[in-house]
Amino acid sequence: MIISHPSTKDNLNNGLGNLMQYEEITNGIEGKTEASKFKILVYSPHIFRIHITRNELYDDHSYAVVVQPDFEDYILEDAGDYLTIRTSDITLKVDKQPVKFTFYNKRGEIINEDDVFGTSWIGEQVTTYKKLQDGERFIGLGEKTGPLDRKGHGYQHWNTDHFAYGVESDPLYCSTPFYIGVHHKMAYGIFFDNTHKSHFNFAASNNRFSSFSADSGDMNYYFIHHDSVDHIIQSYSHLTGKMPLPPLWSIGYQQCRYSYYPDKEAVTVAQTFRDKDIPADVIVFDIHYMEDYKIFTWDKKKFSNPKEMIDHLRSLGFHVVVMCDPGIKIEEGYEAYEDGKHQDIFLKYPDGEYYSGQVWPGWCHFPDFTNPKTRRWWEEKFKDYVDLGIHGFWNDMNEIATWGQMLPDLIEFDMEGEKATSRKARNVYGMQMAKSTYEGARNLLKGKRPFNLTRSGFSGVQRYAAVWTGDNVATDEHMLLGVRLVNSLGLAGVAFTGFDTGGFVGNASEHLFARWVELGAFSPFFRGHSMINSRDSEPWAFGEEVEEICRNYIKLRYRLMPYLYSAFYEAAQTGTPVARSLAIDYTHDQKIYDPAYHNQYMFGKNILVAPVESTKHLTKVYLPEGEWYDFFTDRTYKGGETIIAECPIERLPLFIKASSIIPVAPSVGDNTCDLGDVLELHVYKGKEEGQFTYYEDDGESYNYQQGSYLKRTIKYDPGKSSIIVSEAEGKYKSKYNKIRVCLHGFDFDSVRVNETMVEIKEITYRFIEPISNFDPIYTEPNEALQVKDLRFVEFENRAEAFKVTLY
Ligand code: GLC
Repeated sequence: MIISHPSTKDNLNNGLGNLMQYEEITNGIEGKTEASKFKILVYSPHIFRIHITRNELYDDHSYAVVVQPDFEDYILEDAGDYLTIRTSDITLKVDKQPVKFTFYNKRGEIINEDDVFGTSWIGEQVTTYKKLQDGERFIGLGEKTGPLDRKGHGYQHWNTDHFAYGVESDPLYCSTPFYIGVHHKMAYGIFFDNTHKSHFNFAASNNRFSSFSADSGDMNYYFIHHDSVDHIIQSYSHLTGKMPLPPLWSIGYQQCRYSYYPDKEAVTVAQTFRDKDIPADVIVFDIHYMEDYKIFTWDKKKFSNPKEMIDHLRSLGFHVVVMCDPGIKIEEGYEAYEDGKHQDIFLKYPDGEYYSGQVWPGWCHFPDFTNPKTRRWWEEKFKDYVDLGIHGFWNDMNEIATWGQMLPDLIEFDMEGEKATSRKARNVYGMQMAKSTYEGARNLLKGKRPFNLTRSGFSGVQRYAAVWTGDNVATDEHMLLGVRLVNSLGLAGVAFTGFDTGGFVGNASEHLFARWVELGAFSPFFRGHSMINSRDSEPWAFGEEVEEICRNYIKLRYRLMPYLYSAFYEAAQTGTPVARSLAIDYTHDQKIYDPAYHNQYMFGKNILVAPVESTKHLTKVYLPEGEWYDFFTDRTYKGGETIIAECPIERLPLFIKASSIIPVAPSVGDNTCDLGDVLELHVYKGKEEGQFTYYEDDGESYNYQQGSYLKRTIKYDPGKSSIIVSEAEGKYKSKYNKIRVCLHGFDFDSVRVNETMVEIKEITYRFIEPISNFDPIYTEPNEALQVKDLRFVEFENRAEAFKVTLY
């Protein structure tokens, strides 16, 4: 018998070695080193791809990247010891002995540089080592716990169902191996496109390098450089795709629970929102709507007539979202199981037996979503849901989660015909499920936009679904962690994200719930959700004070809908996030990385949110450079300073950047279909020019792609004290008949709209209503949340351009 031992060589670190040869290919070069072959491809002046393999063939299929390199305007030079490839923005230097890569900016400064270990292997594991730069910080990487600046921390990408995860737990459900490095007033992004379990080390347990590695597969990464983090995210989104514009109703408030049943309970919950005048758009059905948790079925006892119930909910102005889990119960006679077997779409062991794992329904088989045939099968199964009037879907347990959490490595996946085991497929399974659900729903909905939510995903998941951060816990710490997770997902191109408002596991206290709703109102995805056997968690379930607070902040969310939908539009166009870590616009301000302030973010580009625990009445807030207005009172602050902000439970610290323009719908009704007919443009005096791109469409169809939208650029010119609104572009007629320009912080005696003098009106303006006095110690703040003597002008909303000038 011959026993082969791994060679000593495989137990040690093996680098690329020296350059042996290279040649020019379309969009770059291809070369050989002593140990490998590699390609360098130029995607744009800002994006280079480095692809290194020790195998005969490059692994070129990507689930993440949707574009091909398409840029030839670079210069290749051979200087003897090294090569350079130069675009207008980046120069890549390729050292020949040994091969290693250094990226320079156009001023010749090093942006990013391989450590001498460069790219190397230990056995099958491939790693790239980057020299740690002086003062370097690391941000992003998606759904990762820990601080905003990840320096000193290490992370894994391995999609994992982690019930009640801790505030330091890693990995969680979703993998987006893209991070941004910041140093010396520069920033760059690295996207490591390898779906195997991967590891990121940001100078954790060492002071020499940052590194990224995968258990197997190629070293295949994209290097992105721009002057701003925002543009880096946009280039990453160019590579991995953008989210489709979601239906407007899906960014309203969604009420969920594990689970609402029977049908009457769901209707009662919906009716209570209406009775209590709390806007909401969605009731979500968790697993109990199914018979024995079998997907595509309804529990006949609990939901005897789903159509009738859904019609009733629709008549109350609610959309319905239903849970979809991937596990198909092994049960003779169950249609999805029988048909799945018949079509042979389930995951298998190498010997051809179907893999069985346990999840909610008991023993299940799992559709292989990496097989196009399975995706078609799954897509068609949504017809019954759509026929019932359901437009929203929730993909859960798709890491794949099975009891024991140990999906065996040897399970085989189709991987678009290329076949691979769990080791390569696990991280993309959830995203491929989300893709199937999304594409199925989109095709079946015939012209209406679906809402799709997923727990698990990989880079590119934003093309198919919103992502929520799974099973969080009802604590203040978790609430703040949720904010960071959402911001970090935004840094990784996932703009439509949120957390379980109120906390999934455990019971929120009254004030924790109230604070969480305040923050949820400023999260891109806003859904209340809580676990089976936890206390009732609807906005009215925590007493009157909390109910008033919830009504206030949920209404505020709806009032801000014109602002928010415009931000979603921009995210769908460019990939720029809706919830924006301060690291996006204030990247080089060291203070924002201080853990005292690292939860702060911009909601859209103009509203600064300072998340704070439920127990605090006062908090420190850092306002970056510029000038700021307290959102509720218009009190102004100079930026670049820390202030003490009041935050009794009814008040979330919110600030507006000077020169901002915020479109608001003041008179909101039940849901996003009912935002009144007045559009307010709140303009905040400042020294800089301000600009806002306002976007509107029917909120539900794809007609906007045929020109049925309305877009206007609104410009504030401080020098001329004027606000110019461009002519409405597109064929859509605004829902708002009236425009009201609300002028914050300005000194003026008269106002002209175009050349006509108009009447100036004045009100005490409240973004939220004063709440009843529940706390005798704090009598002031409720009443104090108002802008005194806010002046405004009002006129008909016409499609022509107009100019408001203050004299
Ligand atoms: C998972 C989900 C949770 C859901 C539960 C039951 O734990 O993360 O949101 O309520 O499953 O379906």
